[in-house]
Amino acid sequence: MTSRHRPPLEFRVYVPAAGEASDVELMPAGDVTTGVVRVGGTIRRPHQPQSFAVAAYLDWLEDAGFDGSPRFLGRDGEGRDVLTFLPGQCSGPLPEAWVRSEELLVSVAQLLRRLHSASAGFAPGDYPFPPRPIRQDPAELVCHLDVTPQNVVVRDGRAAGLVDFDLAGPTTAFKDSFNTAMHWVPLRDPADAWPGWEAADPFRRLRIFADAYGWNDEERRSLPAFGIEATRLSYERMQHNARELGGGWARMWDEGVGETIRRRGTWLDANAGRLVAALTSAGGG
Ligand SMILES: Nc1ncnc2c1ncn2[C@@H]1O[C@H](COP(=O)(O)OP(=O)(O)O)[C@@H](O)[C@H]1O
Ligand SMILES: [Mg+2]
Repeated sequence: MTSRHRPPLEFRVYVPAAGEASDVELMPAGDVTTGVVRVGGTIRRPHQPQSFAVAAYLDWLEDAGFDGSPRFLGRDGEGRDVLTFLPGQCSGPLPEAWVRSEELLVSVAQLLRRLHSASAGFAPGDYPFPPRPIRQDPAELVCHLDVTPQNVVVRDGRAAGLVDFDLAGPTTAFKDSFNTAMHWVPLRDPADAWPGWEAADPFRRLRIFADAYGWNDEERRSLPAFGIEATRLSYERMQHNARELGGGWARMWDEGVGETIRRRGTWLDANAGRLVAALTSAGGG
């Protein structure tokens, strides 16, 4: 893979071209980062401890020919990270009815698979990712780990891009794909269904996701136990982040995200047999 000539990350300064659009638009707030704005064809985000690790990964993805992630252009005069704006539509915090489209679900799984192929071989060098709280994931592959509806850019009804790489880092492809399925099927207690999603069939949607991503038989059979363990760790990490980092993490915790996560674990346990049956039955679920 030939690396294009770019200045080292610390010295990459974003200078707008003469006449470049400079209208400022506040982006819809996500859960954690405050102050994400669009300026012309760019996104400006506060610089964070993981920014350069993410930027090195985004450089790699560009060189690998992946077209579904923003480019890190450098930092602006205010020290903010400057990324390319990916045109399209993202879900709001409570995924709207259009987000339920099965074609979109298939395209999310396919985009994630392409991300994982493009990520193969990337090893953080000079810019390591900060360690994750509680314990580290096995370091098989650097990938996104936060592919929520709010972080997917949709064009013509299909997933075209991924944004918000704040949680990217070494993990396993299966963990990232489980996590994505969890957000998009979604895998949660029916009591926690988003408005308008009450009738969504998680077994059917999980099978669609698994087929589109390409989980093998072993992965399909391991899903409930894997999900229960991932859910347990996610509870501990959210609790840790709420205590240590405060901000949006503490707000989510106060709003009861911990209990939602616990109910997810209980639901996965109670439905383990049905989930495996849906994932492995001949002809689909
Ligand atoms: N590069 C980008 N291209 C297009 N839209 C973006 C981009 N980055 C962020 N957004 C939009 O801004 C929203 C919030 O930004 P995000 O980076 O996800 O912050 P947070 O950490 O708060 O979730 C996203 O949900 C998306 O709608
Ligand atoms: Mg986000």
